[in-house]
Amino acid sequence: MPDIDPANKSMEEIVALCKRRGFVYPASEIYGGINGFWDYGPLGTALKNNIRDHWWKQTVECPPIGPDGEPVSIVGLDSSIIQNPKVWEASGHVGGFNDPMTMYKECKKLLRADHVWYVFYGNPDEIGKYGEDLTGQGVDVRSFFSDVFALEQLPPDERQRIINEDANLKQALGNTESLPFLIKKAVLAGSKEEAFEAAEFSSKQRKAIEKHGAKPLTTYPLMVPDRAWDDGGSLCPNCESRDSLTEPRQFNLMFESYAGAIQSAENKVYLRPETAQGIFLNYKNVVDTMRVKMPFGIAQVGKSFRNEVTPRNFIFRSREFEQMEMEWFCAPDDSPKWYDFWKHERMRWWESLGVSKSNLRFRDHDEDELAHYSKMCVDIEYKYPFTAPGYGELEGVAHRGCYDLTQHQTHSKQKMEYFDQERQVKGQKAGLSKDEINAQSKYIPNVIEPASGLTRGVLVLLTEAYTPDESRASKVYMKFKPKFAPIKAGVFPLVNKDGMPEVAQKLYMGLREKFACQLDAKQSIGKRYARMDEAGTPYCFTIDGETLTGGTVTVRDRDSQSQERINIDKVEAFLDEKMGE
Ligand code: GAP
Repeated sequence: MPDIDPANKSMEEIVALCKRRGFVYPASEIYGGINGFWDYGPLGTALKNNIRDHWWKQTVECPPIGPDGEPVSIVGLDSSIIQNPKVWEASGHVGGFNDPMTMYKECKKLLRADHVWYVFYGNPDEIGKYGEDLTGQGVDVRSFFSDVFALEQLPPDERQRIINEDANLKQALGNTESLPFLIKKAVLAGSKEEAFEAAEFSSKQRKAIEKHGAKPLTTYPLMVPDRAWDDGGSLCPNCESRDSLTEPRQFNLMFESYAGAIQSAENKVYLRPETAQGIFLNYKNVVDTMRVKMPFGIAQVGKSFRNEVTPRNFIFRSREFEQMEMEWFCAPDDSPKWYDFWKHERMRWWESLGVSKSNLRFRDHDEDELAHYSKMCVDIEYKYPFTAPGYGELEGVAHRGCYDLTQHQTHSKQKMEYFDQERQVKGQKAGLSKDEINAQSKYIPNVIEPASGLTRGVLVLLTEAYTPDESRASKVYMKFKPKFAPIKAGVFPLVNKDGMPEVAQKLYMGLREKFACQLDAKQSIGKRYARMDEAGTPYCFTIDGETLTGGTVTVRDRDSQSQERINIDKVEAFLDEKMGE
């Protein structure tokens, strides 16, 4: 079965399978659920742990070979979720971890102001006029606009190719020249500056865009920037009325709580919105106790919490989620080399999980979308069913410079400077002056941070694995790479008599020590295969009459559904080999 483009997979069906098969359940479901929170069922927990363990193994226990041919050195950490609240003042999260929010005044639907696509007209009535024109051509206006916005996310060549291949789109875009409508130009221009030029925006319009950090995104409505937050002029996607937006306001994403019996300002604490700060707080402890030397990394996996205004798309954006983060500390002048190294290393890692290359891409951040701590950032993006044909973030690799350590040094008054003995010796050998040696060997390290979402990784593997197949009883199977499958093997007696259950039980008892496997003797063999297909179990071993006479079992391959016979003594070695692939 060839790989299916995620664009052709249905999120509703994936969510339904997750519930049906115990991957992911809505949290507090018996009380009507709670928006933005999810529970991982038995199979989801196993899948998540498999990804986490693989990341830990490949990051901390057996890290990659660095650009100089030497293995890199990374240690692990497990820091507290709640820290002294001053941490979040120093890190900039109290002041700067905000989303600009805007709201439709009538229907009260909230939007992230920086996620609004602004389409610019001299006159808002042109929207209607253009809409009528399109309707007259038989074009569905709403889906046309979302197609156009989705196009914007693609590289220029691909964008042009799609426009050329789609007669309707080409005609619709081609007919806009006579109108002051500039989607076409903005879309084809590709950059905000070019779009500004093409649209001949007034300085007032430009100011509105700059002020609210507007950038294009796929599915948002049409806006008239200089009127959007005054007196109407935008089309609400929710109630479809022409409505008006409130002035964007900053909304802090950190969950607050209180440590201690009294709910006072002094006792206010925050649930961490990223695991990274726990690493910066312990950077000095690690340097002082672990005999690490520059460059080195500290890695951590754990829960993070963000009071997302619009949690959505299943587990993609939730309010409680897990991250796998590594902070790589290095000398400032080495940082470009390490940024490049980690960027490619992390892409290679996701591919090693069986994620198809064609569904992953890099996206460099524009300067105006960088986080408050970041000098450069590249996202590794995946083509989710709800972003396709566009892509959405899976992991960010950020160059954080010396921002965090400097901030903590300033706020805590603890020195974060590193003394690099190797550089000192090198400088002495090269005959440098004392000042020159000092300048090179004393520094606050720069940080390169590959920060990925573990729970987002679960969503990617679930989406990749989901494979509809009408030819089989289950109509769908989960094509996990065997190493990541929650259940590695099923062991079945063909019938519950003639000594078969006993042989199956013995095989199962031998395998369970090493592999997550299930013994299943209930219902027909076809139904048992179907259950395992939906769970994504790669191999099923069946004990039948020939096992009793010849000592062989059948192995059924999940993907091809083909069966072969192997000696029962070779089952463990067979699985060993397959799990290593
Ligand atoms: N320490 C840097 C940091 O936290 P980020 O880009 O905000 O950077 C890193 O988060 C990763 O965490 C993202 O690439 C994403 O995979 C995951 N993530 C962030 N917010 C999330 C949310 N609300 N729900 C699920 N995953 C999230």
